[in-house]
Amino acid sequence: MPDRVLVCVAWPYANYLLHVGQAAGAYLPADIFARYQRLRGRDVLMVSGSDCHGTPITVTADREGITPREVVDRYHPKILEVWERFGISFDLYTSTLTENHYAVTQDVFLRLLEQGYLYRRTDEYLFDPEVGRFLPDRYVEGTCPSCGFTEARGDQCDNCGKTLDATELRDPRSKLSGARPVLRPSEHFFLKLSAFEEPLKEWVGRQPHWRRNVQNFTLGMLNEGLKDRAITRDISWGVPVPVPGYEDKRIYVWFDAVIGYLSASKEWAAASGDPEAWRPFWQDGATRSYYFIGKDNIPFHTIIWPAMLLGYGGLNLPYDVPANQYVNFAAGQKQSKSKGTGTWMLDLLDQYDADVIRFYLTTIMPESNDSVFSEDELIRANNDVLIATWGNLANRVISMIHRNFEGVVPAVERPSPESTALLAECEAMFDAVGDEFERCHFRGGLQTALQLAQSANKYLDERAPWKAVKEDRGHAAETLATALDAINALKVLLHPVLPFSTERLHGDLGLPGTVRDGGWRFARVAPGTQLQPARPLYTKIETREAAGT
Ligand code: MF3
Ligand code: ZN
Repeated sequence: MPDRVLVCVAWPYANYLLHVGQAAGAYLPADIFARYQRLRGRDVLMVSGSDCHGTPITVTADREGITPREVVDRYHPKILEVWERFGISFDLYTSTLTENHYAVTQDVFLRLLEQGYLYRRTDEYLFDPEVGRFLPDRYVEGTCPSCGFTEARGDQCDNCGKTLDATELRDPRSKLSGARPVLRPSEHFFLKLSAFEEPLKEWVGRQPHWRRNVQNFTLGMLNEGLKDRAITRDISWGVPVPVPGYEDKRIYVWFDAVIGYLSASKEWAAASGDPEAWRPFWQDGATRSYYFIGKDNIPFHTIIWPAMLLGYGGLNLPYDVPANQYVNFAAGQKQSKSKGTGTWMLDLLDQYDADVIRFYLTTIMPESNDSVFSEDELIRANNDVLIATWGNLANRVISMIHRNFEGVVPAVERPSPESTALLAECEAMFDAVGDEFERCHFRGGLQTALQLAQSANKYLDERAPWKAVKEDRGHAAETLATALDAINALKVLLHPVLPFSTERLHGDLGLPGTVRDGGWRFARVAPGTQLQPARPLYTKIETREAAGT
C-alpha cells in the first residue's frame, strides 16, 4: 500500500435531504476507509461536494417556483450539517458552483477538444412544442428501450441502471407539460467515447481487485460497445461552454460533476497554502484513488470519467470503485432520491447517537447484496451487540479498576498463558481488521474486531476478577490490566467505525492526544495510568414495544 490515498465520494445533488441509503452506500464506507488510512499514517485527501447543476436541480426549482441557486442554498447547508453530526471527515466538501470548478471544468473541456476527443454534431432532440423548450434528460420520461420499465428518465433507467439518451425512450412525455415531444435539430459537443473502448477494456482487465459486480457491469457495457455521448445541453443552468456560438448552451451535468473530484482537490490545495499540493494525489502513479459510490453511478466512474482522464492525460485513473448495492426499507420499498422517499439522516440523527447509527449501518452495508434497514434492528444492534459486547466490556473493566485499584492501572508481574494469548490476539487483530478495511470490506472488518471483544468478555468471565480480588489480588490485577489492554486495542480497531465514542474512551483512559495520534497499532496501557471515572459509552434504547408505543 502506498503512503498516499485519494478518497473520492459521490457528489450528492443539492436538491434533497440526505437519506440513509446514501449514508450507508457511499459516505460512511468512505469515511471508515479515510479514518483507517489516516490511522495507518497515510496521507489522505478526502473530497466531495454538492452537485448543483443539471435537471435534478432545475426540476426542483421549477416545482417550487424558486431559482436553481436558491435550491442549492437551501440544501447545501443541510448536507454540511449531516457531515458534521454524522462525523464524515472530509478534507474538503465544496460545490460545483465555485469559480475554481468552472475554470477546471472548462480547462478539461478545452484540453479534450484540443486532443480531438470532442466534436460537434447536429442531431434531432426532443422539444416541447407547448412550452417552446428543448427537453433535456430528466424533463422526459418514458419506457426504457432495454427493460421496458415505463418510468425511465431521459438520462438513465432506475430499473435496470442503463444510461440512456432521451431520444431512445419509447412513448416519451414532457415533464413540463405532459405533451408528446417533437424532434428539433440542435448542435452539441460529443465525447468520443468510442475511441476509449479498447484502452478501457485493457485497463478494466487489469483490475482484479474490483468488486465482481462492478467489473461485470463495466465489462458488459464495454462489450456492448461505447457510443459517443453529447456533453452539452440546451439549458441555461450549468457551466458555460468555453466556445463561441454556444452562449445559449451549457456543459452536461455529469461531465462537470465528475471533474469535481479534480477541481475539489485543487481547491483544497489552494486553501492549504500550497496550490501544488493536489499534484501527488493525481499525478504520482503510486497514489491509489478510491471512488465510493452507489451502483447507479458505476458507468460514470468506470467508463466516462476514466475516458476523460485518459483523454486529458497525465492523471491517475481510479484504483478502485467499491460501488455498493441499495439499502431497502423494511416495507420492501426502494429508497429513491429522485422520488423523495426514505429515511432522512437529519431525522435519524435527532433520535440516535451518530456512533449508534454508524455501527448499525456498517452491519448492514450493502457491499455485495441489497440490504434492509429497520429501526427495530438498529435498536437491537445497539442494545444486544454494541452495548452487550463492547460498551459493557469497557465500562465493567474501568469500573472494577476504580472499585479495587483506585482507578490506577495495576502492574502485572508474570502474565499467565491466558493473558498472553489475549494479548497476542490483540496484536494479530491489527492485521486481520486492517486487511478487511484495506479491501473495503467494512462489514467484515467490524465483525472481525468484535471477535476480539468476545474473546475479552470470555477471558473476563472465566477469570472472574470480581471474585478473585478477595483471595488473590495479583490475579485480579492481571485480569483487569490485560482486559484494559484489549479495550485499548478495540478503541483503535473500532475507531474508524465509532469515532466519537472511541475518542471519548481515549480520554477516559487517561491518555494524551487523540486516537489518531497513536496510529494503527497495539499499545498497552502503562501501569500507573490514572483512569477517569467510568461512564457508559452508549445508552440502552427502550424498544418500541417496551415503551408501549
Ligand atoms: N449527483 C449524482 C447522484 O446523486 C452523483 C454525482 S457523482 C460525481 O447520483 F461523480 F459526479 F461526482
Ligand atoms: Zn431499463
